[in-house]
Amino acid sequence: MGASAVPVIAIDGPAASGKGTVAARVARALGFHLLDSGALYRLVALQAIRRGVPLDDAEALAGLARDLDVCFVAQRVELDGADATMAIRDEAVSEGASRVAVHPAVRAALLERQRAFRQPPGLVADGRDMGTVVFPDAGTKVFVTATPEARASRRQVQLAGRGVHADLRALLDEIRARDERDAGRAVAPLRPAGDAIVLDTTALTIEQATACVLDRYAQRAG
Ligand code: C5P
Repeated sequence: MGASAVPVIAIDGPAASGKGTVAARVARALGFHLLDSGALYRLVALQAIRRGVPLDDAEALAGLARDLDVCFVAQRVELDGADATMAIRDEAVSEGASRVAVHPAVRAALLERQRAFRQPPGLVADGRDMGTVVFPDAGTKVFVTATPEARASRRQVQLAGRGVHADLRALLDEIRARDERDAGRAVAPLRPAGDAIVLDTTALTIEQATACVLDRYAQRAG
């Protein structure tokens, strides 16, 4: 099977919209591979912080992106052979990821690495530009969104689960700042592909949102 014949479900959307959870569930239901592209930007930020590379040095960051020694094992991710699953979820790394992601050279350096995930029997790709830039020929494109308030309160619950108490107002401000940076950047800004369906999960459970994506895929595949 040529790579372009392998089905791709592109799931894009803003931070804390639920797209990561939905993407993982859709991949599991179909037995497809999963690409968490945000993890790659997070790994570049983590490596930059560890090596003291400034987050505005596009060339040096692109070098880090090209040379990343990454391994995705089940739900975990390893960087340079050591577990980095928790480290890439730090607030400093989240913030850093959206800063390194503005550089075209960093995005270009990660492009082929992302496309290499397209393997039989299929791929669910989660990110900001899966349907617009990385897999423009994806057969199913979904833009998952929710109000900033709903996203902030979901993030609060998620953090509480890890024993971290976060102020709702501060989370809302962070989410808005990250949205602005992701949607306002010149290269691959966050926006729905022209042929994407927009799925607002504000009033949906994860199960309902997952079922919507699976239905859409079944319609397109049938
Ligand atoms: O999805 P996640 O929150 O892990 O992504 C972290 C950051 O990486 C985002 O805020 C965004 O700036 C960047 N990103 C991106 N393009 C992608 C995935 C993530 O620019 N495809």
